[in-house]
Amino acid sequence: MKITKICCIGAGYVGGPTMAVIAQKCPHIQVTVVDLNEERISAWNDENTDNIPIYEPGLDTIVAEARGRNLFFSTEVDKAIDEAQIIFISVNTPTKTYGKGKGMAADLKYIELCARQIARVAKSNKIVVEKSTLPVRTAEAIKSILDTTGNGVQFQILSNPEFLAEGTAVQDLLSPDRILIGGDTTEEGQKAIQALVDVYSNWVSPEKILTTNVWSSELSKLTANAFLAQRISSINAMSELCEKTGADVNEVARAIGMDSRIGPKFLKASVGFGGSCFQKDILNLVYIAKSYGLNEVADYWEQVIIMNDHQKRRFSNNIVQTLYNTVADKKIAFLGWAFKKDTNDTRESAAIYVADDLINEQAKIAVYDPKVSRKKMVNDLNYLETRAAEENERSIFTFENPYLSCENAHAIAILTEWDEFVNYDWQRIYDGMQKPAFVFDGRNILNKEKLEAIGFVYQAIGS
Ligand code: UDX
Ligand code: ADP
Repeated sequence: MKITKICCIGAGYVGGPTMAVIAQKCPHIQVTVVDLNEERISAWNDENTDNIPIYEPGLDTIVAEARGRNLFFSTEVDKAIDEAQIIFISVNTPTKTYGKGKGMAADLKYIELCARQIARVAKSNKIVVEKSTLPVRTAEAIKSILDTTGNGVQFQILSNPEFLAEGTAVQDLLSPDRILIGGDTTEEGQKAIQALVDVYSNWVSPEKILTTNVWSSELSKLTANAFLAQRISSINAMSELCEKTGADVNEVARAIGMDSRIGPKFLKASVGFGGSCFQKDILNLVYIAKSYGLNEVADYWEQVIIMNDHQKRRFSNNIVQTLYNTVADKKIAFLGWAFKKDTNDTRESAAIYVADDLINEQAKIAVYDPKVSRKKMVNDLNYLETRAAEENERSIFTFENPYLSCENAHAIAILTEWDEFVNYDWQRIYDGMQKPAFVFDGRNILNKEKLEAIGFVYQAIGS
């Protein structure tokens, strides 16, 4: 099948950048990204590419090049489905907040709605690609909906999980470690796989394109994220031991990372991992394991989350303890709110949980993040439902620049590793603060000797 039109349902962190890169690399394919959210679509269509809804280095240039040529953003979902030969599903799959599997299973409500819409609208054969991270066997559910409610046309379901990381999305899409495509072993299934392989072959070399059955592909995505998160929890577990024993976790990480079997990446101790994927995918893995009665497997992976929660709590407890067991009415400056640098995404960011703990102790939080609005911060806290929204409003402050955020603060907590934090005028920050002036470096990015020479009391994770 020659692919000339692609549709992607969901213009979020996954759908937006992925489709922008496909459109850039395949000028002969028309790519239409649709979303129910009108505000989001009009932001994607904003003439000024600084205003597109997702901040990713390099994304604005790609959108500027392809948009209007063969990349389109629209709210006309039915039309795009009808015209396309391949339909990507990139809608959100949050952890369920109700009913069976609450707090563990992925909520497939949005996926099912998409499947039903595709079934209703499609008048010709389609390839439907799962792009969102989904529990194993979702393809089966999608297939069943499509086959039993459709207009008698043929659907092939492929799993093509996305491995991009936020902040490096464009780079990850342009030169991926691998592209994974899972499909049926039938002849039609293999043809569908080939059609998608041909799309990626426009810029990815053949040895990097892996094809598997659907279930292997779905499970590989969960497994990759579980392994990555496990490395962080492992090094974070060692960070607590280092603090007690006088070892330095950065030195330990460097020493073990030089073992080529272990490798140096993803060994940075931190206040805890965040992001929309790790926790959600592990909870999902745990849920799947439990549903097959594999309790030891479930417990094993759940420990990665338990360790991560512990790390966040440990960080906030340490702030309170160090500040003489009281932070009531004290100004605590946060540098960073995003879950990592170079993104405006705050989902599951450690900052939210640390702020929540400190607000319980009646602290005032003064945040500076170069990409996150105060509205988003307050929403993040409201989502936890720990206290009335007005109280969150009263507890979170933002300032135009970091120097104002830190002025008169008793302590600074580094929650995101934004590069710019390192280059601040730390003497000026110190001069404006209450004394003793504390820095709790949740990302181990600042220079201990330099800060101590200025007069700061400096604490990193794991040393
Ligand atoms: C992750 C996976 O990397 C990606 O392949 C998948 O498609 C989606 O989930 P992402 O969540 O965007 O990507 O970011 P990632 O770079 O993996 O970081 C996740 C969290 O772990 C961040 O909060 C980051 O700060 C933290 N982290 C990462 C550490 O604390 N230490 C590390 O060594 C690495
Ligand atoms: P992700 O990180 O997985 O990309 P996001 O929440 O950033 O998740 O994006 C998912 C997008 O999918 C949202 O913009 C949401 O409005 C959109 N969406 C959800 N359900 C549908 C649907 N049935 N039709 C069109 N868009 C949808």
